[in-house]
Amino acid sequence: MKGIADIRAKISRANELMGRELPRRFYRSVFRGNYPGTVRQQLAVVVNNLILHVHPTRVYQRSIKAKTTFGLGLICFYLFIIEWITGVFLMFYYEPSTGAAYGRILDLHYTITFGRVMRNLHRWAAEAMVVAVVLHMCRVFYTGAYKPPREFNWVLGVVLLLLTLALSFTGYLLPWDQLSFWAVTVGTNIVSYAPVLGLKLRFLLLGGDTVGSDALLRFYTLHVIAIPALAALIINYHIWRVIKDGGLAHPQASEEKAPQLQRTEGVILTFPRVVYIELLVFVVLMVGLLAASLLFDAPLEEEANPLRPSNPSKAPWYFLGLQELVSYSAFWGGVMVPTVLTAFLLLLPYADRRPDGVGVWFARERTGMIVLWTVILIGIIVTTVIGVYLRGPNWNFYWPWQGWPGPH
Ligand code: HEM
Repeated sequence: MKGIADIRAKISRANELMGRELPRRFYRSVFRGNYPGTVRQQLAVVVNNLILHVHPTRVYQRSIKAKTTFGLGLICFYLFIIEWITGVFLMFYYEPSTGAAYGRILDLHYTITFGRVMRNLHRWAAEAMVVAVVLHMCRVFYTGAYKPPREFNWVLGVVLLLLTLALSFTGYLLPWDQLSFWAVTVGTNIVSYAPVLGLKLRFLLLGGDTVGSDALLRFYTLHVIAIPALAALIINYHIWRVIKDGGLAHPQASEEKAPQLQRTEGVILTFPRVVYIELLVFVVLMVGLLAASLLFDAPLEEEANPLRPSNPSKAPWYFLGLQELVSYSAFWGGVMVPTVLTAFLLLLPYADRRPDGVGVWFARERTGMIVLWTVILIGIIVTTVIGVYLRGPNWNFYWPWQGWPGPH
C-alpha cells in the first residue's frame, strides 16, 4: 500500500510540475517576474526586453492615434521581417543558375508543401513594402517630421527607400521567366544612360553586357545577403534614432524640451497599450497578406528566352514612370530626373530649415513645400499609371479595354 501511495505522490508532483510549476518557471526564466502590474514593472518590461527596448518607455498619447503615423513605419518594419522569414524558406529550394532557377520556381509553385503560398507571401509583401515605404515617407513629409533634430533620420530613410527598391529589383530577376528577364534588361538599360559611369555600372551589376548567368548570381547574392544585411543594420539605426531624436515629432514640443515633456500629461506608458496595438497591427497585416497570397498568385510567365523579347518589355512597375520618361528622352528619364529627385530628397531637411508645422498634417505655414511635393508625387503617379496600364506592344498607347492584358 505504501508503495502505491509513493507512486501516487510522485505522479501528483510530476503533474504539479508539468501543469503549473513548469509554465510558471518558464515564464519567470524568460520575463523575470510575474505579470507586470505596477508602473515600475511596466517600465521594466520595455527596458529589459531585447525587442521592446527599441521603444521609449513612455510615448505621447497622440502617437498611438491612427492618424498620427497610420502605423506605416511599423508596417515597413514588419514587412521587412516577413520578407526575411519567407525568403529563407524560398532559399531552401531555389538555385541561382540559369538552367535550374525556373524549374525550382515551378516546383515551389506546384509541388512543394506551402511553396506556393510562401512564394506569394514573399512577392506580395515585397510589393506592399515598396508602397508602404513611399506612404511612410509621404506621412513624414506632410507632417514636417524631417525638420530638426530629425534631418539625419530622414536621410537614413532615403537610403532605406533606395535599398527597398534595390531589394525588390534584384528579386525580380530570380524566377528567370520572360517577365523578369526582360524587366531587368530594361531596368539595367535605364542605368546605362547615366553619363560616364552608366555603362560601367551596368557591367558591374550584370557581370557582362547582357543579362545571363553572371547577372543571375550577382542579383541573387545582392538580394539574399548584401542588401538585406545593410537594410537590417540601417533599419535598426533608423528606429533607434527615433527615440534619440525625442520620440515621434510632436507639434507643441520645442525639440530641445522633448525629453522633459515626456513626464507630463498626455503621456502614457509604452507597456502594455503600445505593445498590444503593435501586435494587433501585425495580426491584421498578416491576415491581409495571407488572404492575398491564398487568392492571388505571384506572376510567372514562360522560361526566360534571350532570343525572344517580350513586347512590350516593361521594367518592374515602380520604375515604369522612369521608363515612360525614357521613351521621350533617355537623358531626362534615365539620368536627370532620378538624379535630381534623389538629390532633392537627400537635401530637403537641410534646405528647408523653417521650424514651422512640425508634427502637424498639412500645416498652413508649409503650403509652398506641400504643393511642390504633391506636384512631384502626382507626376510620379501619372507616369507610372501610363506605363503600367496604357502602354502596349511597341510602347504604343493602348486603352486597357482594347484587350491588352495589362499589368503584371
Ligand atoms: C525600410 C524602410 C523603413 C522602416 C522600416 C522605417 C521605420 C520607421 C519607424 C518604425 C518609425 C517610427 C514610427 C512611424 O513613424 O511610423 C519611423 C519614423 C521615421 N522615419 Fe522611417 N522607416 C523606413 C523608411 C523611411 C523613409 C523612406 C523615410 C524618409 C525618406 C523615413 C523617415 C523617417 C523619419 C524622419 C521618422 C521620424 C518621424 C517622426 O518623428 O514623426 N523612414 N520609421
